[in-house]
Amino acid sequence: MDKKTFYITTPIYYPSAKLHIGHAYCTVATDAIARYKRLRGYDVMFLTGTDEHGMKIEEKAKAAGVTPQEFVDRIVTGEHGVLDLWKLMNISNDRFIRTTDDYHMESVQKIFRKMYEKGDIYKGAYKGKYCTPCESFWTESQLKDGKCPDCGGPVHDAEEEAYFFRLSKYAKPVQELLEGGEFLEPASRVNEMVNNFIKPGLEDLCVSRTSFSWGIPVDFDPGHVVYVWVDALFNYCTALGFLNDKYDDYDKYWPADVHIVGKEIVRFHSIIWPAMLMSMELPLPKKVYGHGWLVIDGARMSKTRGNVVDPYLLVDRFGVDALRFFLLRTFPFGSDGNYSTELLISTINTDLANDLGNLVSRTTAMAEKYFGGTLPPEREADPLDDELVSMIRETAGRYAAQMDKYQLHLGLEEVFRLIQRANKYIDETAPWILARDEAKKPRLATVLYNLLEALRVSLTMLTPFIPGSCEKAFAQIGADEAARSWDRAGEYGVLPATVSVHKGETLFPRIDMNKALEELEAMKAPKGPQVKIEPVLPDVSIDDFAKCDMRVCKVLACENVKKSEKLLKFTLDDGSGAPRQILSGIAKFYKAEELVGKTVVAILNLPPRKMMGQESNGMLLSAVREVDGKEELRLLMLDDSVPAGSRLC
Ligand code: ME8
Repeated sequence: MDKKTFYITTPIYYPSAKLHIGHAYCTVATDAIARYKRLRGYDVMFLTGTDEHGMKIEEKAKAAGVTPQEFVDRIVTGEHGVLDLWKLMNISNDRFIRTTDDYHMESVQKIFRKMYEKGDIYKGAYKGKYCTPCESFWTESQLKDGKCPDCGGPVHDAEEEAYFFRLSKYAKPVQELLEGGEFLEPASRVNEMVNNFIKPGLEDLCVSRTSFSWGIPVDFDPGHVVYVWVDALFNYCTALGFLNDKYDDYDKYWPADVHIVGKEIVRFHSIIWPAMLMSMELPLPKKVYGHGWLVIDGARMSKTRGNVVDPYLLVDRFGVDALRFFLLRTFPFGSDGNYSTELLISTINTDLANDLGNLVSRTTAMAEKYFGGTLPPEREADPLDDELVSMIRETAGRYAAQMDKYQLHLGLEEVFRLIQRANKYIDETAPWILARDEAKKPRLATVLYNLLEALRVSLTMLTPFIPGSCEKAFAQIGADEAARSWDRAGEYGVLPATVSVHKGETLFPRIDMNKALEELEAMKAPKGPQVKIEPVLPDVSIDDFAKCDMRVCKVLACENVKKSEKLLKFTLDDGSGAPRQILSGIAKFYKAEELVGKTVVAILNLPPRKMMGQESNGMLLSAVREVDGKEELRLLMLDDSVPAGSRLC
């Protein structure tokens, strides 16, 4: 029989700046759900990607002096780019879509044309308030204190000829969909959408732009590009091969089982998206789940606010699983979570080092110490075991009930209840006392076996969250592939009676809070060339400035000055026809021969100076920087096309 499918998506990310742990939060959560569904035997399609068009990208690329495509390529595929980040975070996406991919662009053109031919897209003129960073037009009534209701930033009047989507036509079915109770979660977001957006009256949506060109052209009206949200939302279908030949699993996976999205884009996913799908007469996704934000001191973590936390730094110091776990254990998935590094460290210490890590290391260490690593088959049960054994049998069911509702933190809560119970069981049964009496060996083996079983079940449930660590821990407790499966997670007695274990590396070492915070600060300190920024000097008049005669010179010859470690002697062509000699204290930074032929800049009208018995007529201009705490000097050089004698002005 074919497996049941499960199609899950993250939003596709704007590659307008490097991603931060706020973005990682969303993707890690989606990854945990995807891994959980795979564990449950589903045929999962997990899609993520990048949303690469729009005015914001066009402007940023211009400011960076590159084409928009070069700009997005750098952020998506470059070092520490989006792809690198997902590798770092151990994200198991099955597919990655870029909205600049040809197949996606072709499909979107066809989709736009289809809605136009149906009469759901029509041409008009747009007058409104536009927020550039959010790429959103707003009506006066939607603004909050005259500012963009999403980002709180300024908006400006904008007017352009544009195509419109008849969103108003779909207000009623969309409201019914939302009020049906299944489509949008958490439920609190339904009222927000209905009361704030639908009830005040849904206006038709402007779906094309003419004020910039970095977008998918409307093929029947060049000059218009498709509104970035229409382009972006349809990624969920085009990535499966909808109206393109790149893939052919649209029929298999659509409609999506769940779109995981941040709360600020719930409006796009729960109103505009179903309306456009209704227009296209396509099945609707089964669910949109709007998660909360990672905030710092109450403010959303975002590049524009400058309060972002770098996931590379955290993974480097604490490991990927610690970060993944922290994000999903600490914050209820539907609500905002206040990030702090102190909280990260205390979560690692409490849950991972003390509870889970200790249980693995104590259990395996005792099995090695008392039985040489392999348990004997003899057993002796005791009523003391009953509670732990029933928890081993029942926890998976309770965990699944939470996971199926995307209550990831509550799923983890169930696992940790079992882990804590197992740790308590060690104290209750005191294996070190049992070990003193040969006759108690069957009882001791039973205790250790029960602990290993509690660990086996816990690790199965933790695999979606901390896959790498679970893999290692499974190996330590002697669980083979079959013993790791979900099907056995609700059973007791799965590990062989004579299971062999080995105590391996410590999975989660305890972290010294103050030391780690200091280390992180040191890691944050910028590496590579630095410039000490000094205050700007008092003004000089333009006339005074003009008195400095700075000229372009060619280096005719350059040699070390005898007996001096510092000085280089330059013979320069300053354009006058007569060679000029200048001494410069840069021998530490350059080899004399590498400077011959270079085009440098000198100030010529300084009084002559004698150094080491030789005359210097002027001074070469250079810049000072600091590299790893040491001062370094670089000569000012121009390209060779500038002739000797040209004046600097
Ligand atoms: O919205 N905490 O892209 P995006 C939690 N391109 N989640 C956060 C966050 C934070 N501090 N900061 C960002 C877009 N996110 C569109 C999506 S989908 C068809 C188009 C989440 O890169 C944010 O909520 O701005 C969103 O879900 C995701 O990162 C991508 O944000």
